[in-house]
Amino acid sequence: MSRFILQNSDKGLRLLDRFSRQHPLHINFSDAGFSYRLKRGGGRKEMIAKAVGVKPLLQVIDCTAGLGRDSFLLASLGCEVVMFERSRVMALLLEDALRRALASEQLAETAGRIRLVYGDATQLLRRQPSTPQAILIDPMFPAKKRSAQVKGEMQFLQRFVGKDEDALALVRCAMATGSKRIVLKRPNAAPEIEDFKPSFSLKGKSSRFDVFLQ
Ligand SMILES: C[S@@+](CC[C@H](N)C(=O)[O-])C[C@H]1O[C@@H](n2cnc3c(N)ncnc32)[C@H](O)[C@@H]1O
Repeated sequence: MSRFILQNSDKGLRLLDRFSRQHPLHINFSDAGFSYRLKRGGGRKEMIAKAVGVKPLLQVIDCTAGLGRDSFLLASLGCEVVMFERSRVMALLLEDALRRALASEQLAETAGRIRLVYGDATQLLRRQPSTPQAILIDPMFPAKKRSAQVKGEMQFLQRFVGKDEDALALVRCAMATGSKRIVLKRPNAAPEIEDFKPSFSLKGKSSRFDVFLQ
């Protein structure tokens, strides 16, 4: 029997880790904590909003959708978001969460601004018909220090998808699109990427956004 099991529940799809006592992974854009985050200043005060330079109808490609939180937050601020996810199971969980959000009166408008594409961003970026206005990359960088280890749902996600060891190749690929704004989320302690100096960085408690303006 495999370690991870995808289950259907009355609340929607969820992913169970049989080797952990942690709650199954379930994406729900209307959960209390996330709703509070969205409402606080309309999300505009969030570092990510500043890093991406949000404005209505800004087209953002989120290359690393994961739990879809960053995409949903950006869409709630009026951005048109395309999210890429290469894990088939994560893409299924996202698809299910988006379907529920579209059926909800409060979330339908935001969810309607998000399109999910299953696949590897390094390949999908090369196939874009036009230069993306802004690109967001939030990979699961290998955490070297204990303090940089991820917690909660992200910890679950890391156990499931592993570390994105090829993250730098993705950054290079994003640069090659010629997009004017590339935003890379990294642990605070991580060094700058060789060859690429960010135009500016925004620092939070544990992570920072390196912003590359081209
Ligand atoms: C740290 S999580 C992203 C969390 C996300 N920002 C959020 O708000 O929930 C990284 C996710 O990106 C996905 N990923 C990493 N590299 C990718 C790539 N090259 N193409 C598509 N998805 C990728 C992983 O499968 C994982 O689900």
